[in-house]
Amino acid sequence: ARISERLQDQRAGSAETGADLKGCTACPLHANATQVVPGEGPPTAELMFVGEQPGDQEDLAGRPFVGPAGQVFDAALTLANIERDKVFVTNAVKHFKFKPRGRRRIHQRPSSDEVQRCKWWLDAERAQIKPKVIVALGATAAEALTGSGKDLLKRRGQIELATDGTPIFITVHPSYLLRLTDKKVRAAEQIAFENDFRRASEIVA
Ligand code: URA
Repeated sequence: ARISERLQDQRAGSAETGADLKGCTACPLHANATQVVPGEGPPTAELMFVGEQPGDQEDLAGRPFVGPAGQVFDAALTLANIERDKVFVTNAVKHFKFKPRGRRRIHQRPSSDEVQRCKWWLDAERAQIKPKVIVALGATAAEALTGSGKDLLKRRGQIELATDGTPIFITVHPSYLLRLTDKKVRAAEQIAFENDFRRASEIVA
């Protein structure tokens, strides 16, 4: 609760929430990660995007969505006419979970327990920003925001309500697009992704 109060204290004019919360030990992931990656965006943001967890590059930079998935994310924002610096971008889990393989660090999906233990932070960001709409990028975000990450592709494009009534727009994670090898399928999915962003921003308008 103490950390959550500190988050609230940072409200005034801060571009980043939780940037000083480097010491979070609520789950075991802090032990191997370089640093926490808090959400970022203006306190006035009406649209919030929630990803899964920082990746390799985000872990090093201390900022969300700056690596390959971030490039897919940024491209969809641009095509949907959404300015990144007007929205709040964060993750369900704030530390990078990985397995070392040689010199590489291989992404591992966070467990439900880790998502639960990190949820206080996402909840604090939500309480601070009070977005009109939250876009859940993929199953882990959907789990953190709605309690379930199941059947994501069936739920994609739908609006669900969080317990506090905030509309949660469900879509896929940008890494899903990166994993598609068929060029045509990928191009079609990219358009669908961008359309999801456009629809979410239209709810806000
Ligand atoms: N994937 C995520 O879910 N979030 C990031 O910040 C980067 C990659």
